[in-house]
Amino acid sequence: MPERVFNFSAGPAVMPLPVLEEAQRNLVALPGVGSSVMELSHRGKPYMAIHADAKARLVSLLNIPDTHDVLFLQGGSRLQFSMIPINLLKGTEKTADYILTGSWGKKALEEAVKEGKTNVAWDGKPTNYNCLPKQADLKLTPDAAYVHMTSNETIQGVQFQAEPEVGNVPLVSDLSSDFMSRPVDISKYGLIYACAQKNAGPAGVTVVIIRKDLMEHASSDLPGYLVYRNHAENDSMWNTPPTFGIYLLGLVCKWLQEDMGGLEKIQKQNEAKAKILYDVIDESNGFYIGHALPEDRSMMNVTFKLGDEESEKRFLAEANEVGLTQLGGHRSVGGVRASIYNAMPVEGVEKLRDFMLKFKK
Ligand SMILES: Cc1ncc(COP(=O)(O)O)c(C=O)c1O
Repeated sequence: MPERVFNFSAGPAVMPLPVLEEAQRNLVALPGVGSSVMELSHRGKPYMAIHADAKARLVSLLNIPDTHDVLFLQGGSRLQFSMIPINLLKGTEKTADYILTGSWGKKALEEAVKEGKTNVAWDGKPTNYNCLPKQADLKLTPDAAYVHMTSNETIQGVQFQAEPEVGNVPLVSDLSSDFMSRPVDISKYGLIYACAQKNAGPAGVTVVIIRKDLMEHASSDLPGYLVYRNHAENDSMWNTPPTFGIYLLGLVCKWLQEDMGGLEKIQKQNEAKAKILYDVIDESNGFYIGHALPEDRSMMNVTFKLGDEESEKRFLAEANEVGLTQLGGHRSVGGVRASIYNAMPVEGVEKLRDFMLKFKK
């Protein structure tokens, strides 16, 4: 096998090695089945067992209450930017509130305005999305259809540490880039969603966890795929689900449960990994310039700049040479971004720390 590098991509991102190895072992023929997962009918017993297992593991890991359904969908998080307002806002007289803490929240809003009335409850633009709002800063609409937030802004590297207070209004959160990186109290949310390709598996499957009563409103005249109810009533088999992605997501959940010891443990490890890099930034006397304010920093995406673009180019090229790859910031903001999701080993982060110290010297 070719040597694996430490891959800091923001997504699709590094997967746990034991998961890749198990998938590789069973790729051609699943034990006891004799076919690849990719070759199984989604209606047959072997696949149904894989599907049920992935879902049960998610329910157990995240402690998902009976009030909520788990859906496996396609179309990535960007389809959710539309499905959420289509199901929860369209056809009502209500307003949906959006808290804009970075690029993805803005894109979510762009889709919502097509479906109904929206209100920007807070916008981090004046400080270039380097911080999060305080509760008193939020301009929430009483009796809104929902409040949308982005738990972790992957591009800017800011992450909520606690949910905003929204009263009885359903809270909707994009957890694409911090899903399963720490425990979440699902009962506080009307809906959470996450594309898998950062912390939960490969691109192609998106998890939606939705409070059951929120599915009742959507009109049956909508295109069938866009109605959450259809997926819930058919156990995410309204159409052919992304079977291979769901299989891998199940393996990632198993890895989190059996190898990593659950979400509290992985959170501790994630905090320790992030601290290693933020300490280098903070102790660099301005050589490395962190984007996010310290109190709002992301545990998942560490974003920083160097004094000038030339140094950044050299940093990225030299890092690449020593097997620290995909460290470039998002094309819209530049700089450096180290995405250190669950599957990035501590050794990868330590190697990056050592490289940063050496590069500075
Ligand atoms: C926070 C967040 N939301 C949404 C998306 C979009 O996801 P997708 O490309 O699966 O539609 C991303 C992708 O990087 C993301 O990081």
